[in-house]
Amino acid sequence: MTAKTYSVSALSHEIPTELQRLRLLEEYLEPVTTAALERTGVESHWRCLDVGAGAGAVARWLAGRCVDGHVIAADIDTRFLTPERNLEVCEFDARTGEFAPQSFELIHTRALLMHLPERAGLVARCLSWLAPGGWLVATDPSGFTASSSPYPHWRVLMNAFWELMAAHGGDPLWGRQGLARTVAEAGFADVGMSIDATIVGAGGPADSFWRLFFAQVGPHMVELGLLAAEDLAAGVALLDEPTFFDSPDAFVTVWGRRPL
Ligand SMILES: C[S@@+](CC[C@H](N)C(=O)[O-])C[C@H]1O[C@@H](n2cnc3c(N)ncnc32)[C@H](O)[C@@H]1O
Repeated sequence: MTAKTYSVSALSHEIPTELQRLRLLEEYLEPVTTAALERTGVESHWRCLDVGAGAGAVARWLAGRCVDGHVIAADIDTRFLTPERNLEVCEFDARTGEFAPQSFELIHTRALLMHLPERAGLVARCLSWLAPGGWLVATDPSGFTASSSPYPHWRVLMNAFWELMAAHGGDPLWGRQGLARTVAEAGFADVGMSIDATIVGAGGPADSFWRLFFAQVGPHMVELGLLAAEDLAAGVALLDEPTFFDSPDAFVTVWGRRPL
């Protein structure tokens, strides 16, 4: 299998259900991200950047808070992003793109670094784009909670998903295994980390997300021989079982500031 870039993968914005998938992701991660951004003490005059802004919920939240500042929502594919008064939309490839040094008081990125083999270089470039004292807040999933799942069908399903991520150049365990160390090694100060395990089976937005996710991506996984069609069906059927409760992944958030 050859590595494909994100934009031509099973998560491409071209896919009809991708906007809905991103909105469900935004819904169930909203508490995690809001807590992480609040922790920086975000101020109304701040200049902010959201790298890999997706469907834009975090950039809009920042624009609502930084009413005297400016927010850039940057993504390689900007079709789901709409500019507002203090919210600029920017087509931007995070693997190679640049901003002027010291352009921001806050840079946020979520569920992007895991997809990019160039992730360490991007973290280092974020440091240079921050003003002294400015914050980086990065969140990425890590699939480690599923590897001890008591449900064999769920483990098979999640394993196949991880293999798919790896085939697209992603690292599904990176949030746990590399994010904090990479931020610390890049030279950030005051580095901290939190981990929020997600829950499925509770009937909330995470259930809807994974249902849609496997409807969109599952057939592609079967086509690539990563799992059998029956295993896909058995894993997804767990979401309809009233006694099923499990954790598909955990979101690791790391923050740090450019030294003064
Ligand atoms: C899983 S989505 C996450 C979206 C959003 N950050 C969120 O958490 O709701 C990843 C986003 O990163 C964008 N992306 C992928 N590769 C990129 C790149 N090289 N440069 C900039 N954005 C990229 C995708 O287009 C997509 O919108």
